[in-house]
Amino acid sequence: KRRIGVMTSGGDAPGMNGAVRAVVRMSIAQNCEVYAIYEGYEGLVQGGDMIKEMGWDDVRGFLSEGGTLIGTARCKSFMERPGRLIAAKNMIVKGIDALIICGGDGSLTGADKFRKEWPGLLEELIQKQELTEEQVEPFKHLNIVGLVGSIDNDLSMTDATIGCYSSLGRICESVDYIDATAFSHQRAFVIEVMGRHCGWLALMAGVSCGADFVFLPENPPPLDWEDDMCKIIKKHRELGKRKTIVIVAEGAHDRYLKKISPAHVRDLLTNKLHLDTRITTLGHVQRGGTACAYDRMLSTLQGAEAVKAVLEATPETPSPVICMIENKIVRRPLLEAVKQTHEVAEAIAAKDFDRAMSLRDAE
Ligand code: F6P
Repeated sequence: KRRIGVMTSGGDAPGMNGAVRAVVRMSIAQNCEVYAIYEGYEGLVQGGDMIKEMGWDDVRGFLSEGGTLIGTARCKSFMERPGRLIAAKNMIVKGIDALIICGGDGSLTGADKFRKEWPGLLEELIQKQELTEEQVEPFKHLNIVGLVGSIDNDLSMTDATIGCYSSLGRICESVDYIDATAFSHQRAFVIEVMGRHCGWLALMAGVSCGADFVFLPENPPPLDWEDDMCKIIKKHRELGKRKTIVIVAEGAHDRYLKKISPAHVRDLLTNKLHLDTRITTLGHVQRGGTACAYDRMLSTLQGAEAVKAVLEATPETPSPVICMIENKIVRRPLLEAVKQTHEVAEAIAAKDFDRAMSLRDAE
């Protein structure tokens, strides 16, 4: 029987539990054994009880739960080769040679590196007499399959990452709450949203909530943005708007790459437009709570596809990442998706914002 490991890694995201549930149940349905690796790569390095076989009932109720019930951690030791050597040993001892990882681009790249090193790690384990050739023989190749779990929706080659729509919903709900009080007092609110270097959450929240102005990392405002923003907001007020909402992505910056801080935006609205202005940083509220219907569906379909990808993999197949493109679940080469994602960051660092935007459009 094939033994498959499933883990969540990096920042948690709503829908990760749905992915674990789907992997567990699809593996069992395909006559495989399936193991949950607790606390991400930490569990792989620690081994023992941190790698537990899962039954059908062990994931009951997982679909709607937020966060990740099998835990996640930033694991320093897995970043070093000695940590990965122990991880390889722990996997062979449990008979696992396939890993399905739900996490961000960093976690998925780490996994692919592990796959490339795998034959060398096994040789070293034999040399050090940690394992025998007979023990290692059935596990010559490691299969890695990625599922993108992140609220940021920052991976190229997929329309949606697991968690992004739950987070967007939470942001919209929070802005609606703020709207009511802003309207009552005719106030302005500067709302900072998450997304790391990606402006998807901020942009979509701006569109969905009818914000007056949005600041994004990929498309910084014109050089005279301070006057520009004030002009637009003044016009909105003159048209009779009683409230002002400005959304600032946490990675937003100007065309010189200088961070646009919510405090600076607040000061402009207060001093230039004389608006009574407050700042709200939504913070981790955006990452918590139950998964929305879309994320439950996405994680279930992708989790099932990930198991199929493991069973169909050959030693030559590059590690795939399971994506959603134009409403279809598809596989794409993991490393290419990560490479394209990094190209956006590189374009921003080079101040080539047109390229950054066209790369995001191409996604
Ligand atoms: O990647 C998800 C995310 O929530 C980002 O939007 C944010 O920048 C970061 O993680 C926060 O990380 P932490 O929870 O470690 O503070």
